[in-house]
Amino acid sequence: MAAVPKLKIGFIGTGFIATYHSKSIRRVEQTLPFEIERAGVFDVDSARATSFATASGHHVMSSPQEVIDSSDVVYICTWTSEHLEMVRKVAQSGKALFCEKPLATNIADAQEIVRLCEEFNITNQVGLVLRHSPAYLLARDLTHAPEAGRVMSVIFRDDQFIPVQGHYDSTWRGDVSRAGAGTLLEHSIHDIDMLHAVIGPIAEVSARQSFFHGIKGIEDVLTANFSFSVTDDSTRGVRAVALGSLTSIWHDNLARPSLRRVEIFCEKRFITIEGDDWFGPVSWTNSDGSSGTLAGDELVAVTRELIPDHPNPDAAFLLAAYNRKPAYPDVSVALSAHQTVDAIYRSAREGGNNIHVGNN
Ligand SMILES: NC(=O)c1ccc[n+]([C@@H]2O[C@H](COP(=O)([O-])OP(=O)(O)OC[C@H]3O[C@@H](n4cnc5c(N)ncnc54)[C@H](O)[C@@H]3O)[C@@H](O)[C@H]2O)c1
Repeated sequence: MAAVPKLKIGFIGTGFIATYHSKSIRRVEQTLPFEIERAGVFDVDSARATSFATASGHHVMSSPQEVIDSSDVVYICTWTSEHLEMVRKVAQSGKALFCEKPLATNIADAQEIVRLCEEFNITNQVGLVLRHSPAYLLARDLTHAPEAGRVMSVIFRDDQFIPVQGHYDSTWRGDVSRAGAGTLLEHSIHDIDMLHAVIGPIAEVSARQSFFHGIKGIEDVLTANFSFSVTDDSTRGVRAVALGSLTSIWHDNLARPSLRRVEIFCEKRFITIEGDDWFGPVSWTNSDGSSGTLAGDELVAVTRELIPDHPNPDAAFLLAAYNRKPAYPDVSVALSAHQTVDAIYRSAREGGNNIHVGNN
């Protein structure tokens, strides 16, 4: 009898997001054309590693390298400052890599991660999960449909309680040496990535930041204005450039879950995304008076063909790794978001100066 094909999975860092991925893999594993073998896990907090391994069926190892040696694919789910050194080990071992976002605490380390993935030519994916979100995929489709006209403006608001409490059960996000920065880098890098995906590349930024919690280097309010490269210098000789804004807030209102609201204005269509990041609702109104709303299972069904691979990002990664194919979104997608984030922080440090983004 032919042996059942297997894929061995390891985790470095076994906290909040590692648990999320482990549960996500369990939900889809029966649908995959190979068996999942739960290989090594390592965490500097050995109690965390043990409770993760007990719940999931993985095996606690005594170093990141042992995890890598035991695995075909490795999830890097440590706090952000550790990502680069872990990526280096995974890349040098030639194993497939899932690296959580943000890639790194600074742009130079993010660039080095991309370089390592290229040099060792490994399948790699990042935790920019909204790239697979039905709500954002539908919004992108509605925005760029010819009948919508040109995209004019976007208003993006994102707020959550400062995640050094509540269900996050950790404090590292209040330590600049481990998190790199505050609400923009740690959380709203997802929003920058969605602005890139739904509207288009960002050309220029002007930003301000504020520090209500008094934590050095950890901004808890950040506002940014953008111009996009979606440009039409029409024959009328005036600039027609899509403009937008982001407001990202870490407050103390634990009664409010993480919430985003996005409003997109096209010449002939208005679109909103609200409620759930995945299941919407997404609503739109057209200049002829017609309108629509999609949410939940209906939204998932309508957008299935817009998703480039498997609708579950973990399944998409494991399938790509198994087939030794490129995965999506990869570290180069994340680097674009990092370049915009870097320009925003530079503008904020300079009191709102206009900064050109280096990724166009
Ligand atoms: N994609 C998303 O939506 C999303 C959501 C949450 C977190 N994240 C990212 O995931 C990463 C982890 O966040 P989290 O919420 O799981 O944090 P967490 O504190 O719950 O877990 C991180 C774990 O990493 C361990 N760790 C730290 N340094 C280590 C090292 N050198 N070797 C092994 N283990 C180490 C810690 O002990 C901890 O258990 C961060 O980069 C974060 O930004 C992404």
